[in-house]
Amino acid sequence: MRSKCPLLLTLCALLVFCACDSQRVKQENPATMNQDTIVLALPQETGATLLDALKKRASVREYSAQPLSQDQLAGVLWAAAGMNRENGKLTAPSALALYPITVYAVTAEGIYRYNSADHLLQRVASGDLRTTTGLQDFVYSAPLNLVYVADLNVYDPEKYPQISREKATVLAGLDAAGAAENVNLYAAATGLGSVTRGSYPTADFLQAAKLDPERYTVVLAQTIGIPAQ
Ligand SMILES: Cc1cc2nc3c(=O)[nH]c(=O)nc-3n(C[C@H](O)[C@H](O)[C@H](O)COP(=O)(O)O)c2cc1C
Repeated sequence: MRSKCPLLLTLCALLVFCACDSQRVKQENPATMNQDTIVLALPQETGATLLDALKKRASVREYSAQPLSQDQLAGVLWAAAGMNRENGKLTAPSALALYPITVYAVTAEGIYRYNSADHLLQRVASGDLRTTTGLQDFVYSAPLNLVYVADLNVYDPEKYPQISREKATVLAGLDAAGAAENVNLYAAATGLGSVTRGSYPTADFLQAAKLDPERYTVVLAQTIGIPAQ
């Protein structure tokens, strides 16, 4: 019995080493953001159950400056607005299936528009524009902020006379909340931190992303990253 202990200890040490090593490899594979088009990987299984994610979900406001890995970035965007069916519909529901929301990913390298159909990011502005995505200090140094922009033109008044501009903004905000909660659960399932945010400087972001304020508005924002130790 005593002679089995060293072997058991060695095996345990090996297992711990392997677990740490695979984590390190993951974090050593940061998403390369400094390019105009970023083709994202297919989402990976997280290994966590939905119940695990629901148990862990909590708002995080302290982040490491470490960038997300390629897999993490791809998973976050697919959770927010990935195409999950042949008919082109997305991971989050949308009132009247009008899909007014475009998700913008903002990192130290720029503002990127997420293209759900092709699962890729297209840069629309270069440079560190994170200050245009929020009003709290942690936002400015966190590795990833998402901005949920609504195209209010999808609510065509001739087709939907019952939907006022005000109602359209509410519906778009509800769509964005569904997408953001998908991200919160994905983050919780993968060891990332996140926080949904209703605070952001709309005019600053629309200007930075070169969007017409008559047509577009920001309805929600979110910060995602590796929680500070
Ligand atoms: C629509 C919405 C807007 C929010 N806006 C902010 C925000 O601007 N800044 C922030 O730090 N947290 C924000 N939060 C996070 C809430 O403060 C947080 O969910 C609440 O304190 C409960 O904590 P929990 O998420 O850890 O359960 C927001 C949450 C929601 C749903």
